[in-house]
Amino acid sequence: MKTIFVLNGPNLNMLGKREPGIYGTETLDGVAADCRKAAGSLGIDVDFRQSNHEGILVDWIQEAGEKAQGIVLNAGAYTHTSIAIHDAIRSVAPLPVVEVHLSNIHAREPFRHVSKVAPHALGMICGFGPLGYTLALQALAARI
Ligand code: DQA
Repeated sequence: MKTIFVLNGPNLNMLGKREPGIYGTETLDGVAADCRKAAGSLGIDVDFRQSNHEGILVDWIQEAGEKAQGIVLNAGAYTHTSIAIHDAIRSVAPLPVVEVHLSNIHAREPFRHVSKVAPHALGMICGFGPLGYTLALQALAARI
């Protein structure tokens, strides 16, 4: 069965209590459950992970290059700053990556308008809350 890594970056472990006006009230466990449900109906496997550490995200992107057929990536704030994550995505090309954000990063502070992930992503989904993860899995399942 095809496997998609769903990787989450810093502070996403705080979902549910973190700025609920922006990120909503669903917890990361709830998002993981949504992803597993969507994966079941798409006939794929998901490996859902979260880390607050940039290097661990780099390790997981490299691991996906060996073990997965695609990545759904919400790199949190590292989206806007991390050349290491940008390079890691390039290093596993042509593995497809779909960038996800719960919030609409383009309707927020200017520093969130820049993404170091987007130039090498298959596409980007933002602003739809947890639904974005399901949409990203659908997009990857259609591609792989
Ligand atoms: C986020 C948006 C980022 O700007 C922010 O740093 C996050 C969450 C989102 O899912 O909306 O941590 O990636």
